[in-house]
Amino acid sequence: MKILFIGDIFGQPGRRIVKECLPRLVEEHRPELILANAENAAAGFGITPPLVEELLDMGIAVLTSGNHIWDKKEILPYLRDHVDGRLLRPANYPAGAPGHGLYLGTTRAGVGYAVLNLQGRVFMPSIDCPFRTADAVLAQVPAETRIRIVDMHGEATSEKVAMGWYLDGRVTAVLGTHTHIPTADETVLLHGTAYVTDLGMTGPYDSVIGIEKESVIQKFLNQIPARFEVAKGDVRLSAVLIEADPQTGCARSIQRLPHQ
Ligand SMILES: [Fe+2]
Repeated sequence: MKILFIGDIFGQPGRRIVKECLPRLVEEHRPELILANAENAAAGFGITPPLVEELLDMGIAVLTSGNHIWDKKEILPYLRDHVDGRLLRPANYPAGAPGHGLYLGTTRAGVGYAVLNLQGRVFMPSIDCPFRTADAVLAQVPAETRIRIVDMHGEATSEKVAMGWYLDGRVTAVLGTHTHIPTADETVLLHGTAYVTDLGMTGPYDSVIGIEKESVIQKFLNQIPARFEVAKGDVRLSAVLIEADPQTGCARSIQRLPHQ
């Protein structure tokens, strides 16, 4: 079966290109499962309940997130109330955080799948251990659910590569998000886990990771807090396509799609 995972959808330009390009990608590749990271969908910072619905309506089955999931206050009651919802936050936030980091679903063809959202701790908030959390959460996934997709939201390449090897053979894919810069290391690891360090951003590339570049450069120059606006130019969609065996959960291939 084919699984399409779309990298960090950034602001309105990111949402618009998904809406424009997804029907064509679906027609061309026929993915049975479409997933996306959407923690920056609302003007680059967080996501709101209407935007969750907007993205799910485009055909995305589950939305993952990361450190920015808490940015919009209206998402907190949404996460709390939608206990089985299709918007995930990283599973390794300390106990008591609203929401959940694991989704168990079934595709239209009847294939069971699990999506697990984790967050790194290197150069990021010092939350619970993502490695031990992965062990604990995977223990909750029914043994017969072989398709298991992990979004490892992290800053450090080393931590993401380590997670890939740590989960190799136990999950279908470990896909990095957060840096917004696509990496050229997609591969199927030794025991059948598809891996890439970062999917890259779905949003404006004429920017500094999605933000108008002048304001970010000023911030680096003078360290004074600046107002960050979503950039507009050179909008691209970043995604990978994974082909996996639904019987074993092993990946056969992972392919970075050309930027749309
Ligand atoms: Fe992030």
